[in-house]
This record gives sequence, C-alpha cells and structure tokens, in this order.
Amino acid sequence: MLVCKGGDCKKRSSKDVRKALKDELRSAGMNGDVRVDSVECLGLCKHGPNAIVYPGGVWYLGLIEDDMPEIVESHLKGGDPVERLTAEFRPRKKRKQ
Ligand code: FES
Repeated sequence: MLVCKGGDCKKRSSKDVRKALKDELRSAGMNGDVRVDSVECLGLCKHGPNAIVYPGGVWYLGLIEDDMPEIVESHLKGGDPVERLTAEFRPRKKRKQ
C-alpha cells in the first residue's frame, strides 16, 4: 500500500493516517503481510491524504485515521475494497468554468 506523504497530503495529516494504518495492521496480526511505503506525490493532491493499494491499483482519497480499521479488515484482509472511500465513489470538487 502506497501512502502519500507529499506536502498537500501531509498538511491534511497523512502522517497520522499512515500511523493508524500501521497500528491497525499490527493489531490485526498482519504486519508482515502488507508492505506500507510512502510516496512523495500521487498527483491528486487536493483530494488527499491519498493512498493506492496493490495488487489492483485501488485509489483511496481523502483518508482519515478512522478509515483504517475498515480498509484493513475489508480490503487488506478480506480482499474487498471499501468502495465508499475509493476514487470512483468520492465526489469530486466542481471545476471552475
Ligand atoms: S501531495 Fe499527496 S497526492 Fe500530491
């Protein structure tokens, strides 16, 4: 799982999100099963904190610490992405015309 630590995501607490993810993996006994890496920017900065889960390349946008238990349980453990948090299901900000 790649978690963005770039400037915009960092401003919105990506460090705390990453810590919550690691804590949750540890509690679930999955510390050795999932590799968590940090990346500098995923390119959707205004929606951050963002992350991508492989295999599958599922994008999560606008994460908060409280999302981590569900992502670990459903996606990382059970293989089912948490659809309401994935990029396709997040409402995008309207473009200015
Ligand atoms: S800073 Fe996180 S996506 Fe760009």
